Formats: sequence, structure tokens, C-alpha cells
Amino acid sequence: MGSGLVQLGAPPAPTERPIPDGPMADGFGRRVEYLRISVTDKCNLRCVYCMPEEGLPWLRREEILSYEEIERIVREMGEMGLRRVRITGGEPLVRRDLPALVRRLRRIPAIEDISLSTNAVLLAGHADDLRRAGIDRLNVSLDSLRPERIDAISRRPGSAARIFAGLEAAERVGFAPIKLNCVVMRGRNEDEVEDFARITLERPWHVRFIEVMPTGDNLPVSDGEYVPAGEVLDRIRAIGELRPVRGPMGNGPATYFAFPGAVGTVGVITPMSHNYCDRCNRMRLTANGQLRPCLFGDLQTDLRGPLRRGEPISPLVKRTLRIKPERHHLVRGSAAGSGGLRALSEVGG
Ligand code: 5AD
Ligand code: SF4
Repeated sequence: MGSGLVQLGAPPAPTERPIPDGPMADGFGRRVEYLRISVTDKCNLRCVYCMPEEGLPWLRREEILSYEEIERIVREMGEMGLRRVRITGGEPLVRRDLPALVRRLRRIPAIEDISLSTNAVLLAGHADDLRRAGIDRLNVSLDSLRPERIDAISRRPGSAARIFAGLEAAERVGFAPIKLNCVVMRGRNEDEVEDFARITLERPWHVRFIEVMPTGDNLPVSDGEYVPAGEVLDRIRAIGELRPVRGPMGNGPATYFAFPGAVGTVGVITPMSHNYCDRCNRMRLTANGQLRPCLFGDLQTDLRGPLRRGEPISPLVKRTLRIKPERHHLVRGSAAGSGGLRALSEVGG
């Protein structure tokens, strides 16, 4: 015993950097005003780049933050400078009565924008309620326009018709902008990028192509089927001139282009080929109440325990800002950079 005792197996303490006073910013001068909130780790699909076919060990009900708890966290972070939230999962629409959460978040004066990421399978039945509750903007995950491929990629046959009905409903009730997110995979859908891009000629949609990222459960896909965004753009340029444009909303990770005269845009999200961490403006709240400063790595701060004990969470939010890393260290074909993540659904993709 004594002063030389080293605790074997204890993780090294994360590096803390000083953060400025005032609205939330991290130790690298990045303003953090955006929170992605995962409301469930469950999903009704099993996309090949995301979840294993048999699913994952789901969180227990009592582990998951209630809507009231989420509201309290967002309210307190709103006082610290949070301005925008996005609701994600898993698949957020598998959680009961999501509009009730949206209405709670709408009441928070600091929050200017509430958006939702969904696979659209359950959207047709909820679009109207969600719009009325106060969702402004929608991101829909869609990796193919062909039903048989949607079945193969999502491993839940029969979802295509429901997804298309969901998109139609989204348009009908007036969501704008609508963004489509397409993870490009060699041999599965890379020959559809032109078809996806052509949608932007006719509809005011923003089609974004995403490079597949490695997680614990998807290494064969994220390594063997990776398509760099440069290649995607080359394919699209073959059908028409692409001009760089400003994106539909602010400073996210995507880089946008448009065909001359098009009503929508084409974007690429390049976590693998071009790191955009210097523009990072966000943190994540997992369904079980962990505040994560970065999508990858194992850094997180437990908000749920303190919240349930009635303690203030702002010191914990500040601590999370202080440990926000400069960048991720993803390596193709390696789960190491994902910090033990099995799937992005665990942290709200
Ligand atoms: N790589 C890239 N994007 C992913 N998503 C989930 N897992 C991955 C991954 N490994 C994104 C996709 C999907 C959304 C739910 O999360 O955009 O549409
Ligand atoms: Fe579900 Fe999205 Fe993961 Fe597909 S990518 S399994 S839709 S959480």
C-alpha cells in the first residue's frame, strides 16, 4: 500500500481543457449549441451497417430517461446556450407518443429548432401529429430506391412500401426541408447514387451520401464495402455539372452541391475521407442519460443518476465540454476508434 499504488484496469482520466465562460463552447473554441437526443436504442430495422440481425441487448425501461427527464436536461442546457435539438434513436418512432416529448421541448424558450431523424417506416401514421407538435425538419434514412434492395439492406422485408408512404406523408403535411440520408455501400447501392441525385432536380429534397463508419458489429461492411465520397461525386458529375452551394441549414458536417436549376441539393458526409471535426457543434444524449461529447470514443458523463437525485446538471455539462476531444480517430476496418460501440444506434447515429 502507499502512494505508489496504481489502480490496474482503471481507464485513464480524460484530458480536460479549460472552456470559456458564457454560451456553451468547448476547449477548442467550438460553440456547442446542438444536442442529438436518442429516445430509444431499439429499432424496427436491422440495417447491415448498423445493427446485428438478432438485435442488441436492449436497455431496460427504468434505465431510459422519461420525457420529463429529457425536458429537464434540455431546459437546463438551454439556459447554458443550447439552441437546437434533434430527436434520434435507434428508431425514435418506436417509442410511444413521441409528439408528447416534442410538445415539452417546444415549450422551452431557448430551443429554436427541433428536428427528427427517422427510417420513416412508422412515419405515415405519425407525420401529422409530429408536425403539429412542432417538429420543423426531418431526416429520413433511405439507402435504396428499390424495394428489394431496401429489404436486403434493412433485413426487415416489406418495409419499402411503408417507407415510401412515410415520405409521401412527410411531404403532404409540409415538412421542410426533407433530407434523405443514404449510406453508400459497394455492391449494394453505389450504382443508385445517380438516381438519388436526380431526385433533387424535381423535389426540394436534400440527398446526402454518407461514408460508412466502422463500429464493433459492422466491420465486414465498413471495410469491404466502403465507398469514398469523392467517388460518389465523380459518378454524379457524370450526369450534370455540380456547383458548391450553401446547405439547407447552418453548419452541419455535410458539404453541399447542386445541379444548375435544381430545387434540391446533393451533399456528402465524409467521416472517413475528410475529417470535419473542426466544425463540430454538437453533443449527444443517449437514451439512458449519458452525455457524450463525441460520436466516437468512450467519453461520457452520467446525467441520469444526478438528475434522479435532484442535483443540478450544469456542472456535468461543463465537464463534458471540457473533455470534448479535438477529433475522432476512426480507422477503416477497425473498431478501435469507436470506443467499444457496437452500433451507432447505441448513441443516436
Ligand atoms: N456509418 C455511417 N452512417 C451510419 N448510420 C448508422 N450507422 C452508420 C455507420 N456505421 C447513420 C445512417 C443511418 C442513420 C440512422 O445513422 O445515416 O441512416
Ligand atoms: Fe435502425 Fe437506423 Fe440502425 Fe437502420 S441504421 S438499424 S434504421 S437505427
